[in-house]
Amino acid sequence: MKTFTILKPDDWHLHLREGLVLKNIIKFTSDYFGRAIVMPNTKNPITTINKAISYKNSIAQALPENSNFQPLMTIYLTDETDKDELIQGYKNNVFFAAKLYPANSTTNSSHGVKKIENLYNIFESMEDSGMPLLIHGEVTDSDVDVFDREEVFIDRELLPLVKRFPKLKIVLEHITTSHAVDFVQNNKIGATITPHHLHINRNAMFFGGLNSDFYCLPVAKRETNRIALRKAATSGNECFFLGTDSAPHLREWKAFCGCAGIFNSPVAIESYLTVFEEENALDNFEKFASLNGPNFYNLPPNKEKLKLVTRPNKISEFVNIIEEKNIVGKIKPFHAGETLNWQVEGIVK
Ligand code: NCD
Ligand code: ZN
Repeated sequence: MKTFTILKPDDWHLHLREGLVLKNIIKFTSDYFGRAIVMPNTKNPITTINKAISYKNSIAQALPENSNFQPLMTIYLTDETDKDELIQGYKNNVFFAAKLYPANSTTNSSHGVKKIENLYNIFESMEDSGMPLLIHGEVTDSDVDVFDREEVFIDRELLPLVKRFPKLKIVLEHITTSHAVDFVQNNKIGATITPHHLHINRNAMFFGGLNSDFYCLPVAKRETNRIALRKAATSGNECFFLGTDSAPHLREWKAFCGCAGIFNSPVAIESYLTVFEEENALDNFEKFASLNGPNFYNLPPNKEKLKLVTRPNKISEFVNIIEEKNIVGKIKPFHAGETLNWQVEGIVK
């Protein structure tokens, strides 16, 4: 049995949802991560200071007792975002960052931004105040192939943005292509990489019939891209850090409409570790999981430590959503039914 210890990680991109789902899934993150950036694409998106405060309160209420987990809140940018509210919310520590969803690019993004140039005066203030901009980097034009949307976004939208706002703190979220890897490194912006994009290529969605369990946005791409992502994540390069994009959808919805999103928070650390071990890069895991993110966001790393061990770890088929002791829903986790070789042993003080 191998064991090793790292500083407690953070999740720099997470969907916690609301209500019953939030209550049932938050422990998967709060047990082992110090902080998480909470995405604002709730059914009624987090577009104001008041909504962010009330969402943060509901997260605090859902946390296990004595948890010291810190949710970092984001504001969902729209064509109507009020610049003063945004900056006030940032300066008063309500918002940690702003999230840009191009309109209709992903789950609950219909209120997203229609024309990025219209937000340029907001980006100017963000650049001045140091507020990070987190980007879902995909164009949505119906004539752009779904597998090309990230690349086209980078060339058409991100490049001009980076040139115009060189000091703006930008994170390209859940990158999926070698083009993104190169762009991030060359322009010294930040990027999160999910566990699933390190494990699957686009074949996974078509294996044994159409399989929405492996459908997320941006969609997984060709194998060459997966290889580039694995190299980037395990390189130790400070541009790349952990962001699970864990995005739970109840089984009935996933099966019915095949909505985009993979729920990986119950297995995220083990899933990443599997990749780092396969790439002979366990020495770089702490950088990716616990150091590069805080470094990018100018935060101290967590103080506590996490102990990890090699041990057969069978992943359950479903996580139950429970209300008053009754199972009222199920969510399929990433790696369901597989046995991974790693397990989180626990926190070491
Ligand atoms: C996310 C969700 O379900 O909220 N889905 C996904 O496929 N990743 C939204 C997102 O991050 O794109
Ligand atoms: Zn996401």
